[in-house]
Amino acid sequence: DIKACLFDLDGVLVDTAKYHYLAWKRLANEMGFDFTEQDNERLKGVSRVRSLEILLEIGGKELTDKEKELAAYRKNEWYVEYVDAMGADEVLDGVIPFLEELKSKNILIGLGSASKNAQKILEKVKIDRIFDVVIDGNMVSKAKPDPEVFLNGAIALGVEPQNCVVFEDAEAGVEAARRAGMRSVGIGEPETLRLADIVLPSMAKVSLDMLVDIGQEA
Ligand code: G6P
Ligand code: MG
Repeated sequence: DIKACLFDLDGVLVDTAKYHYLAWKRLANEMGFDFTEQDNERLKGVSRVRSLEILLEIGGKELTDKEKELAAYRKNEWYVEYVDAMGADEVLDGVIPFLEELKSKNILIGLGSASKNAQKILEKVKIDRIFDVVIDGNMVSKAKPDPEVFLNGAIALGVEPQNCVVFEDAEAGVEAARRAGMRSVGIGEPETLRLADIVLPSMAKVSLDMLVDIGQEA
């Protein structure tokens, strides 16, 4: 049975991809090239450092390590300005009722995000207090699809991986869940989330009944 649900942050609970996009675009434009929303798709679920490398590849630019550090720092400063302006209305549809439903059924709630800004974002949108554990980009050494972030979440909650369900919008995240030995709900397109046990177009479609179904399958 299901004892814990572990959530990715960006693209599952909130739509911060648009803010990452604006900040990366500003950096690209300063360096003299454009960065499109389509390019931004490649950065979803990817760490800050790796995102910068992809961005530089798109622009055909090379930077020294010192310059990369500064570029990533500046991008983050811009990104955090957007985050600071976030409010409770930015929690995606369906998330709060679902988290409340889990709470009422005593199912534990964890966050498993690559973002180093995860705690701040949860606080800004006022859902931080509902989480039993938060594992973020400051606490893991290996990025998704490595299962570390979700395994650490399960350990912190004292729950076996087979009793966890992961909610993810990124392919690498779904793969991380599978490698952790957890079931997963993909949020997005079935074509990109093939490894997920079920795929839903958004969190608005999630229900506990559906979780029970994937619980019985396993
Ligand atoms: C998530 C997002 C990525 C982002 C990463 C790191 O995985 O989907 O787009 O690059 O977190 O976020 P950070 O806030 O630490 O720069
Ligand atoms: Mg995500």
